[in-house]
Amino acid sequence: MPPKDSLSGVSLHVQRGEIVALVEENGSGKTTLSRLLCGLLLPTGGEVAWDHASTADLDPWRSWKHVALVPQKFTYLPLTMRDNITFGQGDTSDAALLAACEASGAAEMLPGLRSGLNTLMTSEWFGGQQLSGGQWQRLVLTRAFHRQAALLLMDEPTAALDARAEHRIFSGLRELAKDRAILLITHRLTNVAVADRIVVLDEGRIVQEGTYAQLTRQDTSGLCGSCSDG
Ligand SMILES: Nc1ncnc2c1ncn2[C@@H]1O[C@H](COP(=O)(O)OP(=O)(O)OP(=O)(O)O)[C@@H](O)[C@H]1O
Ligand SMILES: [Mg+2]
Repeated sequence: MPPKDSLSGVSLHVQRGEIVALVEENGSGKTTLSRLLCGLLLPTGGEVAWDHASTADLDPWRSWKHVALVPQKFTYLPLTMRDNITFGQGDTSDAALLAACEASGAAEMLPGLRSGLNTLMTSEWFGGQQLSGGQWQRLVLTRAFHRQAALLLMDEPTAALDARAEHRIFSGLRELAKDRAILLITHRLTNVAVADRIVVLDEGRIVQEGTYAQLTRQDTSGLCGSCSDG
């Protein structure tokens, strides 16, 4: 039997200035859709296009420059905090890094780091320090904010954050969306209220789409059934 398609019949348009939230149950295809949108995966059928140019035809290295991704699963890289944020790309000045740290909440960690931005993010090596899971997530968010990309994809971006840090991220999204498109994947109902549009996926298909008010008004909404308020 051929493998089942992870997504099927999905049609979605995201534009600059807009926050679109993707919600639903585990395994419904949210991460797959976000990876298709940023060109990390190419569709086996249909098309993903940026301004009418198919991602299949675009030079991946050039298109990835326009994307910032906060992945659901991230890797703990034993580099300095500075290198973990920039990888030598973009504006590498302290001012640019500190602005991104402020937006992500990583700035709160800096006084505790021996060498500030130059601290090595592993306790395995001399002079390094180990971050907690939530602190790593703040760092990964800093990396995405620092990129200043036109498309910001956030896949469960606050799963490891404390309540205050999570609130900071979601309350800052509208400002970030002024000059970029944001695709937000989250299970938490309170967080999707910030989105202009909510897309509900079920087993790889879009089953509902609308504003928070529209979807929460519908008795049968999968949105209320699947999101936790935690
Ligand atoms: N690299 C892959 N190769 C093959 N199948 C995959 C791959 N990644 C995911 N899948 C399958 O695609 C489907 C959708 O997975 P996806 O990760 O997009 O779900 P999700 O909605 O993000 O789930 P979650 O809420 O758990 O993060 C699942 O059935 C999964 O097993
Ligand atoms: Mg996922």
